[in-house]
Amino acid sequence: MRQRGGSDALVADEVAAAIIDLAPRAQRRATLVFAAVHDLVLRGVVQGALAAYYPTVGGDRAPDAAATAAFLEVVDRHRDLIVDRLRTRSTQTNEPGRTAAQRAALSWLQTRAYPGSGGVDARPLALVEVGASAGLLLHLDRYAHRFVADPDGACRRSSTSSVRGDGSTPPVVIETRCLDRVPATRLAAIVRRIGIDRTPMRVGDPDDRAWLRACVWPEHVDRLARLDRALSLAATHDDVELHQGDLLALHESIVATIDPDLQVVVLHSATLAYFAPEDRERFEAILDGIGSRRELWRVGLEGHFLEPFAGLVARRLGPPDADQPGFVIATTSWVDGRRHDAALGRMQSHGAWLRFAPPAR
Ligand SMILES: C[S@@+](CC[C@H](N)C(=O)[O-])C[C@H]1O[C@@H](n2cnc3c(N)ncnc32)[C@H](O)[C@@H]1O
Repeated sequence: MRQRGGSDALVADEVAAAIIDLAPRAQRRATLVFAAVHDLVLRGVVQGALAAYYPTVGGDRAPDAAATAAFLEVVDRHRDLIVDRLRTRSTQTNEPGRTAAQRAALSWLQTRAYPGSGGVDARPLALVEVGASAGLLLHLDRYAHRFVADPDGACRRSSTSSVRGDGSTPPVVIETRCLDRVPATRLAAIVRRIGIDRTPMRVGDPDDRAWLRACVWPEHVDRLARLDRALSLAATHDDVELHQGDLLALHESIVATIDPDLQVVVLHSATLAYFAPEDRERFEAILDGIGSRRELWRVGLEGHFLEPFAGLVARRLGPPDADQPGFVIATTSWVDGRRHDAALGRMQSHGAWLRFAPPAR
């Protein structure tokens, strides 16, 4: 079942439209109905005709005219369960593949801040992710990143960060095709991992885990397998501090708890689009305030149209590829109260490819 292709047909249908209307106004999205049905398929509640269209449970039937009828039959039969999901959940992903860009950007920031040592002397890091979901990106140093040089790209040498782990869970490997430079992968030690989310997902909660899985598109079988590995890995660590609440309200007080000797890094990915423009401005003002008091770095991975990066991105990177816009990788550092923004490149939203072209300094 291809969620995107089918959504127009779904919205147009009376049964599904009626279901969408039962969701809170902000939740009236066809993608939420698709995720709710995918959840039923993954749990084995829905089998048979419809499951045959879901590669994530081994289905291999191509979408055809019968798919919509099978889908609507399931929506009708499991109406109460689906409505419950629409009322209590939002489409919420947590995509470990995005750590490829974060790792590349962090390594670049370190080298820029400590040019003499190539980043070796960098201070230990305290990560603060806003819009952290289940906090899977906060384990970025525990994943193995393989940056594979594209044969037609600017650079031919690939790079790998190998992470051995303790063998208790299968390794999480993130492979990214590099369309421009291959980034360095060196990272200082990460000693605090803090996440803020208005609806944090708990890796220890089977229902939250099931919902994160349901939000992966059904044709993305490899992504689902990688998510499962990341969830298993996260379950073996208890050092992620997840706070529930609005990041605008929480951010400053949480950063105040971080040891002054640590380098604070604010991360956000696929999150600013949820904010109203005035909230994005408030968020920048909060960061500027923190940056006026201590050294601060930010790594953002967001849509190219979002301020404060839109102007910078247009100047440095030019317009995105219409077919594959990807996310923009942008950093800000505040040193001695002075702010420095840089657009480093673009990445496919799940980390499949990277166009890394940072400025010389
Ligand atoms: C699309 S998810 C991205 C999660 C994660 N950053 C990633 O890239 O995998 C966006 C997250 O932002 C959270 N979020 C949106 N607005 C928020 C706000 N005002 N305060 C805190 N969290 C928010 C949502 O609950 C959701 O978990």
